[in-house]
Formats: sequence, C-alpha cells, structure tokens
Amino acid sequence: MNDFLRVEDVVKDYPSGESTLRVLKGITLSVEPGKITAIVGPSGAGKSTLLHLMGFLDRPTSGDVIWRGGRLSTLDRAAQARVRNASFGFVFQMYHLLPELTALENTRLPLMIRHSIGDWLSGAGRHTAKARGLLERLGLGERLHHRPSQLSGGERQRVAIARALVGDPDVVFCDEPTGNLDAATSRGIQQLIVELCKETGRTFLVVTHDPNVAALAHRQLRLVDGLFVN
Ligand SMILES: Nc1ncnc2c1ncn2[C@@H]1O[C@H](COP(=O)(O)OP(=O)(O)OP(=O)(O)O)[C@@H](O)[C@H]1O
Ligand SMILES: [Mg+2]
Repeated sequence: MNDFLRVEDVVKDYPSGESTLRVLKGITLSVEPGKITAIVGPSGAGKSTLLHLMGFLDRPTSGDVIWRGGRLSTLDRAAQARVRNASFGFVFQMYHLLPELTALENTRLPLMIRHSIGDWLSGAGRHTAKARGLLERLGLGERLHHRPSQLSGGERQRVAIARALVGDPDVVFCDEPTGNLDAATSRGIQQLIVELCKETGRTFLVVTHDPNVAALAHRQLRLVDGLFVN
C-alpha cells in the first residue's frame, strides 16, 4: 500500500437500455511510483474504463480513486479537472491532436489550458521553448510546424507523447499507444516510453494488447471481465 495512486474497490456501471452493464466489478490496485505498469486483457474487459477512472477523466459508480491522499469522490468536477491538468498526462491510440494546430502548438496546448491568459502571455516564450525542446528530444525538431495531417502515425504519436509530458505530469496514462502503428514504429514508441520513464522518473500506466509493450513494463496486470486475474 502506498499514498501515490490507489484504486479502492472500484465498480463501474454503464446504462444499457433498461438495465445496467457492470464493466468493473470491484478493482483494487496500488500503482508503484516511477515505474511502468501495464494493463492487458481482452477487448471489452474494462481496461480503458479503468484508465479513465484512474486519470480522473470519469468517476466510479462506487469505490474510490485516491491520488496523493486526496479522494476523487470528495472533489467537484472543477477540482477533478484541476488535479487532472496539474498531475496527469494522456496518450491515446487515436492521438487526439487538434488538426488545425501544428506539432508545436499541439504540444504546448496543456500549458495554455493550465495558465490564465495573463500568465500565458508572460510565459509564452518559455512555454514554447519547453514544447520545442521536448519535440526535439523526441526526434521531431524538423517537424515543429507540420500539422497532424502532414505527419506519419509514429510522428503523430510522438507529438501526443510530447503533449502528455509538457506539463511535467506525475503520471502518464497511455491507452494503446502503439495500436495504430506498424511493428518498427511501435518498437520506437515502446523504447521511448521506457527511456522517458528512466530519464524522468515519471510513472506510466499503459493499456495495451501488444505483448512486447507489456513485456517492457515493471508490472503486468491482467483484466478479464471487470476483474484482475493472475
Ligand atoms: N460510455 C459507455 N457507455 C456504455 N457502455 C460502455 C461505455 N464505455 C464502455 N462501455 C462498455 O464497457 C465495456 C468495457 O469497455 P472498455 O472500453 O473499458 O474495454 P477495453 O478493455 O478498453 O476494450 P478494448 O481492448 O477493445 O479497447 C465494453 O463492453 C463497452 O461496450
Ligand atoms: Mg480500450
């Protein structure tokens, strides 16, 4: 047990016509800080649902998620969003980049969201330099002003990773980060996640179908039909 990120007996129901569908059936988990935890399991097992709850993107039906001693259940929606923006970064399979923004603009977006307009304007140069430095670190120094439609899948995913890291999150949540990539590009992204975890000491939670990604993790959890199995 630790006081980092914990899931306590979480149940999640979704409405399904007249009845409800119980997708998570009582999940308890302590995440180890500074490590990569992989969540694997069949399609429909509840992996993305669990990741969203842990990242404060959604709320459980019952049970709780505890981040550094603070309980999700005690926060209103605005406070929930503040914690999320301050502490968590997200990488999704479909990248979720804004098509009209360049790589650099997409990457610095979380910093804009976090700061008031006045702070943003006074810090704009610093924020841009930070976003640029990250993109360069991820091998995209020559792609700063490309829009997502002008980037390959692997490049888009690296922009998404840069965007997830730019706000110095404590935890980076990745949902199928290599799901849309060919084998070689996927290996590059896997290596990058391992390097970034080592370099930055950040915690990664990675949902994946890819056994190679799961094998790189310090810990693997298998979710089947809403419950962890060994
Ligand atoms: N917003 C929603 N409303 C209703 N049902 C939902 C909703 N989101 C997910 N579900 C259902 O919950 C179940 C678990 O979904 P989830 O996306 O967590 O699965 P998953 O393990 O991530 O699967 P995959 O590997 O295919 O991404 C699925 O049966 C899905 O249809
Ligand atoms: Mg999923």
